[in-house]
Amino acid sequence: MSPEEMLKSFPKQLEWEKLDIDRSLYHTITFCGMGGSGIVGDIARSWLEHKGCKVITSSHRGYGLPNYISGEEHLVVCISYSGNTEETLSNFAEAQKRGASIISISSGGKLEELSEKSGVLHLKVPKGFAPRYALGYMLSKVLAVLGIEKEELEDARENIEKNYEEIKKKGEEIAEKLYGYIPIIYATPLTEVAAFRWKTQINENSKTQAYFATLPEMHHNEVVGLDNAEIRSKCAFVVMFDPKDHDRVRRRVDLTIRLLKDLGIVPIAIGGDGNSYLARLLHLIHVGDWASYYLAGKYGFEPLPVKVIDWIKSELSKG
Ligand code: F6R
Repeated sequence: MSPEEMLKSFPKQLEWEKLDIDRSLYHTITFCGMGGSGIVGDIARSWLEHKGCKVITSSHRGYGLPNYISGEEHLVVCISYSGNTEETLSNFAEAQKRGASIISISSGGKLEELSEKSGVLHLKVPKGFAPRYALGYMLSKVLAVLGIEKEELEDARENIEKNYEEIKKKGEEIAEKLYGYIPIIYATPLTEVAAFRWKTQINENSKTQAYFATLPEMHHNEVVGLDNAEIRSKCAFVVMFDPKDHDRVRRRVDLTIRLLKDLGIVPIAIGGDGNSYLARLLHLIHVGDWASYYLAGKYGFEPLPVKVIDWIKSELSKG
């Protein structure tokens, strides 16, 4: 399947499912995964936080597990598209050792094998995609674990479907503006995960460095870096926001745009469109996915291969 076809399948990947899970058993939920699989937990956490969920959640990237996880009241969700990522397998083994509750998500691999062997609930996603292009499949599984309402997921999917041509066009226009510059994305707490996805998609699809910073923290450091005219002239700036951002954050978004304009920079100011937070977030993420795809084309790169990631994994597999 071509990367374009994989990208186009994103809304179809968002499929609602009912799972019989008693979520009241869990005091904490920890999402484990790396790269294109790791961001799935971040999106789920942002969604839960916006919903007002009181359960403590965290994303864990790396080996082992945080110290607080011990016992079955802690749910560890291990997500690895390939099912073979060593950090995620390490999380799985550690969760077993600590007697935590585990749910795993993969398209197969060792994670599926180990889950089946030890009676862990394993949710399988279709094979044949690059992990980052299977975001919708993995996210749908996680949102099913968390008990999302059918209407909410379907609305988010339809919101992308009905605006598809506009999303692609926006992505293409943004790629035009980012071309030749280091993309710097300024986000709000509600759009931080979208900024991270834009960064990583630009890294992997467009083979280009990109960075992001989040309000209000960036008003206490990052903004001072803008004083350096030589460096900022090498960057293209994106400012992301959501209508439900905290009032004072919205005020800070306006100040950031003003600050950039006073420096002679016209940032790409962008918010997702949609009725719900999830719909807007996925809309914004998908605009970035297309922007990174078009940017790859402008630089003459194939969006799909990530040779250096493959090389690191193969070196590490030698022991
Ligand atoms: C995304 C990608 C990487 C992987 C990461 C973890 O397309 O290639 O970011 O997602 O290396 O691998 P998986 O997702 O298989 O656990």
